[in-house]
Amino acid sequence: MGKAINDIQGFKNPAQLAEAARAYITQLIPLTIENTGRFNIALSGGSTPRLLYERLAAPESKNVIDWSKVFFFWGDERMVPWEAPESNFNTAWRALISKIKIPRDNIVAPNVDLATATQCAEDYEDQIRRHFSVDMNKIPSFDLILLGMGPDGHTASLFPGRPELKETRRLVVGMDEPVGEPPLPRISFTLPLINGSRVALILISGAGKAEVIKKIWSDTDKAATHYPVAMVRPALKRLWYHDIQF
Ligand code: 6PG
Repeated sequence: MGKAINDIQGFKNPAQLAEAARAYITQLIPLTIENTGRFNIALSGGSTPRLLYERLAAPESKNVIDWSKVFFFWGDERMVPWEAPESNFNTAWRALISKIKIPRDNIVAPNVDLATATQCAEDYEDQIRRHFSVDMNKIPSFDLILLGMGPDGHTASLFPGRPELKETRRLVVGMDEPVGEPPLPRISFTLPLINGSRVALILISGAGKAEVIKKIWSDTDKAATHYPVAMVRPALKRLWYHDIQF
């Protein structure tokens, strides 16, 4: 991990995990806005972050955050209509974004109406490059990327053994064939984009993850040869928040 901080924090249950993540994010946003004028966050999909999103929409958070300077992106998305229950956008919209006062332009979501995941990925990459004003030779830096982990050690929609893990230039990749659970065509941030982030907050909750996370934490360098979540190496800080009772 070089000089970046790697920190593991365990919590008793999903509610305490969500509250700790809320507290961390709620202090990071104003600090970042003070330094740079805005806060760029990539949201995670799946079910784990839902409680966190709901906590961020609660009065004690939403009223202290200047949402006009917060920009939401998605680290991965399934190629389903945004109102579908499988949509990662839909999860964040229902739990958080629909409940806060935030300019429409601050929601930078993948265009899932495009014909294929490949087209959606190319379009999303263009949106990201435009937002950060970076050309093909630079990797933008998100202030925070939220990530989850599946029981196979996948993160975002980067799955073990798949070619997308080898991507070194593109920011976003599309998988036109169904992948993951639920098996769907998807787009995902690539490792270069994920690792361009300043901070990665990895939320791990749910059944069936204890074995793989024990293996990963026991030797992260070795794990990084197989498990995508172990390949997450952000510039400043990698935080693991979990509620796994070992
Ligand atoms: C996705 C997610 C994925 C998720 C993990 C954990 O779109 O599938 O981004 O990477 O974070 O699969 O999912 P749960 O939080 O539902 O366990």
